Amino acid sequence: MKFFAANWKLFKSPNEARNFFEAFHKRNTNKVDEVIFFPSAFSLEATQQMLRGSSLRFGAQNVYAKGSGAFTGENSAEVLKSIGARYALVGHSERRQLFGETDELLAQKVSYITSLGLTPMLCIGETLEQRKATKTIDVCRRQLEDGLKLVQPSQFTKSQDLVIAYEPVWAIGTGVVATREQVQETHAEIAEVLKGLGFNHAPILYGGSVKPENAKDLICIKHVDGFLVGGASLDVESFAQICESGSVS
Ligand code: PGA
Repeated sequence: MKFFAANWKLFKSPNEARNFFEAFHKRNTNKVDEVIFFPSAFSLEATQQMLRGSSLRFGAQNVYAKGSGAFTGENSAEVLKSIGARYALVGHSERRQLFGETDELLAQKVSYITSLGLTPMLCIGETLEQRKATKTIDVCRRQLEDGLKLVQPSQFTKSQDLVIAYEPVWAIGTGVVATREQVQETHAEIAEVLKGLGFNHAPILYGGSVKPENAKDLICIKHVDGFLVGGASLDVESFAQICESGSVS
């Protein structure tokens, strides 16, 4: 099974989300893989209503490491679960870079989300400077070790229980997609690191300027278990085509 996840970031109002799903339900041909939507917080309820009774899943782009309390401005994973969500993104590079989220906080989030029976989708990836300094796998290893340090492999029994998204920061929203060789090499190394940590079953998604044009090629690479898609997931046709790439692999 492959995973195709749409990260809508701060786009799409509830009405726009509804319109998207009306069209996507008609267009989507992929009923076998895991197709997941991450709308912004205000559009979660519209998403939940539109996905009811379908095989499509949804989750939040960010939740806090506690279910309730005096945490002004945060989102509750407990509430997320109560509305039928299954996933939560953790540590997207925009959260790390723009909102200063630390590995310590991310580890707490992974642990809390897991304890609720939701699936954390932990995002990792190097900056351009780190890649140029041949630090890619060191950075990814540290982010994995730190992000997963408060959970145990035994807490994850199915491939849908923990998902890793490898997103090179320099490829996010830039139109610059990592080359086949870069994806192949880094995914293989990440798989090795995960194996060493005991999290062998976690699927590894690639993210960063995924488009219908490059999806078919990338999905065939070993250890590429799907995609986390930003810009190209906002359009029904282009995201549907990306989801169809799973059937060629
Ligand atoms: P992009 O974003 O597909 O627009 O590069 C990916 C992401 O940020 O998850």
